[in-house]
Amino acid sequence: MPPHIVVFGSLNMDLVIQAPRHPRPGETLTGGPFRTIPGGKGANQAVAAARMGGQVTMIGAVGADGFGDELIANLAAAGVDTSRIDRSPEATGLALITVSESGENTIVLAPGANGTVSARTAWENEDVIAAADALLLQLEVPLSAVLAAVQIAGRHRVPVILNPAPARPLPVELLHHVSYLIPNEHEAALLAGLPTGAGEEATRAAAALREMGVGQVVVTLGERGALVYDVPGTSESAWHVASFPVQAVDTTAAGDAFLAAFAVALTEGKPPAEAARWGCAAGALACTVLGAQPSLPTRAAVEEMMHKEPVVLLTSLAPAGKMRNVCMLRETHG
Ligand code: RIB
Repeated sequence: MPPHIVVFGSLNMDLVIQAPRHPRPGETLTGGPFRTIPGGKGANQAVAAARMGGQVTMIGAVGADGFGDELIANLAAAGVDTSRIDRSPEATGLALITVSESGENTIVLAPGANGTVSARTAWENEDVIAAADALLLQLEVPLSAVLAAVQIAGRHRVPVILNPAPARPLPVELLHHVSYLIPNEHEAALLAGLPTGAGEEATRAAAALREMGVGQVVVTLGERGALVYDVPGTSESAWHVASFPVQAVDTTAAGDAFLAAFAVALTEGKPPAEAARWGCAAGALACTVLGAQPSLPTRAAVEEMMHKEPVVLLTSLAPAGKMRNVCMLRETHG
């Protein structure tokens, strides 16, 4: 039986232009062609989890408009159950995205229908959340809705995996319900009230977040891989999981691909450091194609990437963030 993954969150139509670089304030640049591409952190995670082999249900809202139709059709084509997506009187959420030649993006959101997702939406879907093997969330819908969804998950002992993006301070009552918090370095530092920087700061931020009541913390480090903090059953404080080198075309949705692959691997019983390796492979592959949902890899592509480098480099970090030793583990593929 594939794991049942429920995603509670946003759906956006991404309005994308590639440009040689990002414009400065007041500057006009000429870019490439304009594209509309299905996106939204929630919908991206749902599509990614389905392509990784999960049985996925999406909870969220789109407008009663053409973009809403397109987003639902794209999710359905990936095999996601879309029956829990509301049609709101607000317009479908939009994301204005500029992608530079180096593959980096800037994003401005118009939440639209995502803003109508509420605590009531969560309670109306208690049955599907209760039956999940994991609940995946992000922060593109109102915090009150996110809080209700994680409380419902807690009530039914469903593991909660939260990507705290876009970054914003979070109440401790929410963090207490999070089994796995998966921020990037910037988000980790903001949540922990610390400066961002190299691996050491990520370790410190992860430690602070654990102190605030989060179950486990996995900090994504972009092309440097991921930091898995405080792995139960080991004496180590943190593991650094190496990533896969790729030629980045567009980093949009790399974090969503990581989270979904991590969630599927974890719910299949893989330990967190190995699940993070799946996440790194999915995230790296998502950077090689323009756009959010078109770039999300299949399980076969992720497995092929990991087979190319079957030996995993796990670097154990001492509590102070200093590298202590390096061990090589042979990857297992289920
Ligand atoms: O994580 C990438 C996503 O962020 C984009 O698809 C865009 O819609 C924004 O929500």
